[in-house]
Amino acid sequence: MKKKTIFVTGGLGFIGSHLVELLITKSYKVIVIDFMGIGSNQKNLKKHKNLTLKILDINKTRTIKNYIKKYKPDCIFNLAAETHVDRSIINPKPFINSNFLGTYNLIEALRNLKLKKNFKFIHISTDEVFGDISINKKSTEKDPYNPSSPYASTKAAADLLIKSYIRTYKFPSIITNCTNNFGPRQFKEKLIPKIIFNILNNKNIPIYGNGNNQREWLYVKDHCKILFKLFQRGKLGETYNIGSGDVKTNLYVAKKILSLIKTKFNINSKSKIIFVKDRKGHDFRYSLNLNKLNKIYNLKKNLNFEKSMIKTIEWYIDNYNSKNK
Ligand SMILES: NC(=O)c1ccc[n+]([C@@H]2O[C@H](COP(=O)([O-])OP(=O)(O)OC[C@H]3O[C@@H](n4cnc5c(N)ncnc54)[C@H](O)[C@@H]3O)[C@@H](O)[C@H]2O)c1
Repeated sequence: MKKKTIFVTGGLGFIGSHLVELLITKSYKVIVIDFMGIGSNQKNLKKHKNLTLKILDINKTRTIKNYIKKYKPDCIFNLAAETHVDRSIINPKPFINSNFLGTYNLIEALRNLKLKKNFKFIHISTDEVFGDISINKKSTEKDPYNPSSPYASTKAAADLLIKSYIRTYKFPSIITNCTNNFGPRQFKEKLIPKIIFNILNNKNIPIYGNGNNQREWLYVKDHCKILFKLFQRGKLGETYNIGSGDVKTNLYVAKKILSLIKTKFNINSKSKIIFVKDRKGHDFRYSLNLNKLNKIYNLKKNLNFEKSMIKTIEWYIDNYNSKNK
């Protein structure tokens, strides 16, 4: 039987590269489209006979169309995006270009092509589109969007555009809104890599505000397994929340990593947690209602924050010390 072909945009980035790895182990042919931006690293992907890398901006409609005609994908996972909230506050333009216009150009290219039967466009979005939510509340797929940062608003804008394509053109798409991911290969400026790096290098750990902001953390490999399940069983036209149900404060996460590095890896660090001026428009809390996802994926089977955090720290110790920061 002919191997199925899947495109992964943003496949040189953090989540994309784990998804590519999973698809390769399942014997798919994978075409990665990535313009090698800030979150990317060519070392994130090992060479493989079933993997083709195209260094390309998703805004390049004509070339994208040619690749789709040539490779006839069964699915496109769209992960290409500018993703660092702090950078979006300093300069929103690249976020508008990749997250909104990039998604528009990609789906517009697809809209005018004859796609394979059962083709799926799976768009990876974020829980940040729902904005700040109050304690004890969980955002459902039907909640209105209320983004706070330029990052979140460009993701929200792209989701809404896709929803309109689904309704107007019967565009064959699924949207996923996922909580914060952690794991190996995440870009060094993000919260967890930064905490680990600073501890390993005896630097203080800067935490925004009073550290009480809450996030729901999901191990990146668990996220990718869920994305694969949605490729197999997700219903076209639907939106799915993805998360772990495991909400923790930033302060808890920093203290946990500090204690794991000391106790499990016997590394004695002089790092201390210090509180720094809060991020502008910093959302206090995100948390997702996962009832819809639970109907097709048994979340409880896989998740273990501490075990996954130990694997993450191990990776950073092996791959990311002061010499190759
Ligand atoms: N990391 C998280 O916690 C998280 C949580 C929920 C959703 N998401 C979403 O998942 C996706 C992947 O996130 P990540 O953390 O892996 O990000 P990342 O920054 O590590 O990777 C993004 C990749 O997209 C590429 N890219 C950006 N703009 C592009 C363009 N115009 N054309 C081609 N390639 C482009 C970059 O080069 C990079 O390799 C994003 O859409 C993000 O919004 C991330």
